[in-house]
Amino acid sequence: MLRIGIIGLGYWGPNFIRTFSDLANSEITAICDVNNERLQQVRTKLPNVFTTNNIDEMLNRDLVDAVIIVTPTKTHFSIAKQSLEAGLHVFVEKPMATTGTDCRELIEIAETNDLILFVGHLFLHNAAVKKLKQLVVNDDFGNICYLISQRLNLGPIRQDVNALWDLAPHDISIMLDIIGKTPVAVNCQGLAYLTQNVHDVCTLTMHFEPKCMAIINVSWLNPNKTRLLTVVGEKKMAVYDDMEPLEKIKIYNKRVETIPYSDSYGEYQTSFQYGDTISPYLHQVEPLRVECQHFIDCIENHVSPKTDGLNGLKVVKVLEAADTSLRNDGRLVRLSKDDHINVENKLTVA
Ligand SMILES: NC(=O)c1ccc[n+]([C@@H]2O[C@H](COP(=O)([O-])OP(=O)(O)OC[C@H]3O[C@@H](n4cnc5c(N)ncnc54)[C@H](O)[C@@H]3O)[C@@H](O)[C@H]2O)c1
Repeated sequence: MLRIGIIGLGYWGPNFIRTFSDLANSEITAICDVNNERLQQVRTKLPNVFTTNNIDEMLNRDLVDAVIIVTPTKTHFSIAKQSLEAGLHVFVEKPMATTGTDCRELIEIAETNDLILFVGHLFLHNAAVKKLKQLVVNDDFGNICYLISQRLNLGPIRQDVNALWDLAPHDISIMLDIIGKTPVAVNCQGLAYLTQNVHDVCTLTMHFEPKCMAIINVSWLNPNKTRLLTVVGEKKMAVYDDMEPLEKIKIYNKRVETIPYSDSYGEYQTSFQYGDTISPYLHQVEPLRVECQHFIDCIENHVSPKTDGLNGLKVVKVLEAADTSLRNDGRLVRLSKDDHINVENKLTVA
C-alpha cells in the first residue's frame, strides 16, 4: 500500500484526497497546508490522518512514500526539491516550476535518487485528448496546418502567476503531444486589467517547422466557460469541446483544395470539399482517477510516467519564452535547444 501525503488543500487539493482514498493500492497518511482553517476541515472528516502546517514534519517522519504538491505555482520548485531530497516520489501540479533551470534541477535530483517525478498535465490522461490525438495523427487527416484553442472562464483569479502560467499549461501540453515536437518560436500578447503586471487574458502563438502554428487564448475574465480546441488538417478538421457532456469530439470531412486553373504562374482556384461529420465513441473515466492510478503504477513498476519531468520542462520552456514575449510587446522569441531565449524585433515569423 502506497502511503500518500497531500500538500495544499485549496480549491484543487481535496480532489486528490477523494481520488487517492478511493484507489485500491494507496492510502492518504498525511496532509499539510499552511492554513490551519483548511486543516481543521479535514481533521473532522479524516481523524486518522496526520495533519500539519509544517512541511518538515510531514517529510521527515517516515509517514509517506510519495507526495502530491497542490500549492500555488511559485512554491512548486522548493517543495518538490525538498520532497525529492527527503527520498519521496513527487507528483507536482502544473506548471512544474517557473523556470526551465528549476525543472532541470528537479529532473536531476529525481534521477540521482531513483525517484518518480510526475507532472500534473491532467489532459494527457483524458480519454478525449487521447482519442483526438489518435485521429489527427492518422494519415487520412493529412498534415496539421494549425491548432487553435480557447480556455476561458470567470475565475479563479490568481495573484502569484498570470493567466498564461495558470491556464495555458493545459493547452500547451495537449498541443505538444498532438504535434509531437516543440516550437521553434513563440509570441504572446495580453492584458493585465485587474492586478498590475498579472495578465488576465493572453494569446500565445507557437510556431512549428515546417509551416504549422498553434494559437492559445486564455482568460479568467470572461463571462462564459469555454474549453475548445480546433485542429485543422489538410484533409480533415476536428473540434474538441470539453464542455460537451458526450459528443466531445467531432471530426469534419471538410477540406479546401487549391487547383491550378491557368497556365500562367500563380493563378489558382479553391474548391471546397464537404463530407460526413462523425463523433467517435469515448470510454470516459474521470481523468484525475486515470492520472493518479498512473502515478501509483509508475512507482510500483518503476517506469517513467507519460507526464514525467521532461514533459513538464518542455511546457515550462514554452511558458518562459511566452512570458518574455508578453513583457516585450509580443515580440517573437526564438527557442533554442540549449534553453537560450532570443527576443527578435519582429512580431511574428515571416
Ligand atoms: N490540473 C488541474 O486541472 C488543476 C486545476 C486547478 C489547480 N491546479 C493546480 O493546483 C495548484 C493549486 O491550485 P489551487 O486552485 O488549489 O490553489 P489554492 O490557492 O486554492 O490552494 C493552494 C493551497 O496551498 C496552500 N499552501 C500555500 N503554500 C503552501 C506551502 N508552502 N505549504 C503547504 N501549503 C501551502 C494554501 O494555503 C492553499 O490552501 C496550482 O499549481 C494549480 O495550477 C491544477
